[in-house]
Amino acid sequence: MKTYHLKTFGCQMNKHDSERIAGMLDMHGWQATTEPHEADAIIFMTCCVREKAEERLQGQVASLKALNRPLIAVGGCIGQRDGEKLRAQLPHVDVVFGTHNVARLPLLLERARETARAQVEVLDDTVEDFAADLPATPEHAFHAWLPITVGCDNHCTYCIVPTVRGREKSRPFERIIEQAENLVADGVCEITLLGQNVNSYGRDRYGAPRFAELLTAVAATGISRLGFATSHPKDLSDETIQAMASSSALLDYLHLPVQSGSTRILTAMNRRYTKDEYLALVARIREAMPTIALTTDIIVGFPGETDADFADTLNVVRTAQFAGAFTFLYSPREGTPAAAMDGQVPADLAQERFDLLVEEVQRSARAFSETLVGTRASVLIEGASKRDAGILVGKDRHYRTVHVPVPPQSTANVWEGREVEVDVDAASTWYVSGKIVTR
Ligand code: 5AD
Ligand code: SF4
Repeated sequence: MKTYHLKTFGCQMNKHDSERIAGMLDMHGWQATTEPHEADAIIFMTCCVREKAEERLQGQVASLKALNRPLIAVGGCIGQRDGEKLRAQLPHVDVVFGTHNVARLPLLLERARETARAQVEVLDDTVEDFAADLPATPEHAFHAWLPITVGCDNHCTYCIVPTVRGREKSRPFERIIEQAENLVADGVCEITLLGQNVNSYGRDRYGAPRFAELLTAVAATGISRLGFATSHPKDLSDETIQAMASSSALLDYLHLPVQSGSTRILTAMNRRYTKDEYLALVARIREAMPTIALTTDIIVGFPGETDADFADTLNVVRTAQFAGAFTFLYSPREGTPAAAMDGQVPADLAQERFDLLVEEVQRSARAFSETLVGTRASVLIEGASKRDAGILVGKDRHYRTVHVPVPPQSTANVWEGREVEVDVDAASTWYVSGKIVTR
C-alpha cells in the first residue's frame, strides 16, 4: 500500500482542500500516515499570505532531502504562485500543483513516480472545477467545511490571495443545499460555509448576492450548528444579520476582519469602510444578537501607519469588545500595491505596536470569557486535550474553546462529536472551563 503524509499550512480553505486531497488519494488506493519518514509521498498544502509561512515551508521541504526519497509534492497558494520557479528553488520537489487542480494530484504523483521526472502543473482560474465537488476524507466526522465561493474580487492592497485564488466564483445554490442535506444525513452536526468573502456569495452567478437566502436555506436542512468565514464588513448586509438572528442553527459567533482601526489606513488598504462604519456595523450586529462573540483580524505596521493610526486600532479593539483577534505584523507581498508604498514601518516599531495590541486583545478576550462564567453552554466535544488526556476540549456556540474533565467511568473517545451541556465555572483568556451537566 502506498502511503502519504499531508501537511497543511494556512487558512480554512486549505484545510478543506486538504480533506479533498485526502479523499482523492484514499480513493486511488493510497493510505494516510502521520509519520513523514514512513511515507511514500509527502504533500505540502502551502500558504503565501505572509512571509513567515513561506519560510517554514522552505525549511521543512529542505529537511526532507535527508529522508530516503519519498515523493514530495507542493500545492496550494505557493504552488500556484511560483510554479516552475519553485522547482528551481527546491530541486528535490517532484510535483508542483496549484489551487485550481487539486483533483489532478493522484495522477501527477503517479506520473512523477513512473517517469522519475518532476511534474509541474499550474492552471489559471478559468477552470470550472470546484475542489468541493471531489470526495472528502474529513478530519472530524462531525464537522464539514462547505465552500460556497472560491477566489476573491476585492483588491485589498496588502493581499496576495486574489492572485493565487483567482476571481470570485460562486458555487450553484442547489448544489450547496444538496451537499448540506447529505452532510446532515451523514450525521455531521456542524457546517462551516467557506469563502474569501462569503457575503458576496452569488453576485457573479446570479447578478446579486444571495448569502442571506443561502444561510436560511442551509439552516433549514436541520444542521445543528452553522457558521461561516470570512465576512467582509463592506458586504455584510442587514438581511444577513437578520438571517443570522432568526435562525437557531446559526452559531452566536461572527468573524469580522477589521484589519485596522484607522480610516486613513483602511483607505490605503482599499477596504472601503471607515472606522465609524465598522463600529456602526458592530452596533447593528449586537442589537440583533446581544450575546454574539465577535472576532477579527488586525494587521499592524501597514505602510504609513502612525502612532495616531495605531491608537485608533487600539480604540476599535476596546470599543468593539472582541472575543478574540488574530493579529499580524504586516508582511510585504511582492506584486501587491502595498509592497511598493512609501512609509514602510521599521520592524522594531511595528513589533512594539504589535505587543501592545496583543495585550489589548488578551484583555478583551478574557473579558469575554468572564461573561460566560455562571452560564450553561452547549458544547460540541472535539476530543481529548493533546496536553492532558483527562480533559475534553470542545467549542460552545460562541465558538469559544471549552475544557471539561472527562466524566468518571467513561473514556474521552465516547464523547467525541457529541453536543453536551456544560456549566461554565472558570474563565481563561482563550478558553473557559466547566463540567458536563449530567441528568
Ligand atoms: N501581511 C500581514 N497580514 C496579512 N493578511 C493578509 N495579507 C497580509 C499581509 N500581507 C492577514 C489579514 C487577513 C488574514 C487572513 O491575514 O488580516 O484577514
Ligand atoms: Fe485578501 Fe481582501 Fe480578498 Fe480577504 S477580501 S482575501 S484580505 S483581497
